[in-house]
Amino acid sequence: MDTPLVLIDHHDGFYTLTINRPEALNALNKGVFDELEAFFKQYMGDFSVKGVIITGAGQKAFVAGADIKEFAALDTAAGSALSKRGQDVFFMMERFHAPVIAAVNGFALGGGCELAMSCHIRVAGQHAKFGQPEVNLGLVPGYGGSQRLIQLIGKGKAIEMLLTADMIGADEALRLGLVTHVVDAGMETAKAMEILQKIATKGPLAVQHSIQLVNAYFDKSVDGFEKEYKDFGKTIGSADSKEGAAAFVEKRKPVFKAQ
Ligand code: CAA
Repeated sequence: MDTPLVLIDHHDGFYTLTINRPEALNALNKGVFDELEAFFKQYMGDFSVKGVIITGAGQKAFVAGADIKEFAALDTAAGSALSKRGQDVFFMMERFHAPVIAAVNGFALGGGCELAMSCHIRVAGQHAKFGQPEVNLGLVPGYGGSQRLIQLIGKGKAIEMLLTADMIGADEALRLGLVTHVVDAGMETAKAMEILQKIATKGPLAVQHSIQLVNAYFDKSVDGFEKEYKDFGKTIGSADSKEGAAAFVEKRKPVFKAQ
């Protein structure tokens, strides 16, 4: 059997997906997208999954971009299709019901930075480097980077990064809000797991709706305030919310059931 391009490790509802092409600095080829898509399709809406960490194999790279070696044969139509496919897989991650955290353990360039930005939360190792170097190749980002970089760090710095292809380090990424934690190299996954375990003590439906509401802010077809009052109604009508209130009054920990 072929070695998986995405290694899947599972423990008590927490999944770690490791992009496993260290010889190519974990560049995203078609096979990696197939395996990522299969995972998120299979588990979308399955509340036995409490959270997902995405990281890269080896110590050097999270993901160094789309696989440049697949580009030579692409014309305009095939290139647009590749880009749309990548965007669709990353939308699945961004819309996943449970938190998805990028544990950025090295280079996160081009499609790698885009993969990290499609996760709900980003934790970086001290040695991580972020960038959108597509202009070096005569390209623009294809997996949502031109949009999500602006969402996360604002137009001014985003356009400079896109036009210069400059990389930034972990501390600069933290200062700009591209990541929310910087840890010693090798501790990225442990920190991500600590965050997932905290979120797993909360109401799962509330977590799901919180993710949807944040996404709604950036979705021009949705009125976020309207969605908020509707989702507030849905969550307050849920059994979990009754359990949460009862546990508060009885001074005990709630037992949520995603109901
Ligand atoms: N695609 C395919 N292979 C890649 C790759 C990529 N994005 N990045 C690195 N590799 C391969 C290299 O070709 C090399 O393979 P060989 O040993 O077979 O030659 C191996 O990984 C190690 O890489 P380097 O020897 O280059 O390592 P380095 O330490 O000298 O440099 C680096 C590291 C600065 C990250 C450099 O590899 C690099 O610049 N990589 C490309 C980064 C990039 O341009 N990413 C954007 C891709 S385009 C994109 O992502 C478009 C999109 O949005 C859809």
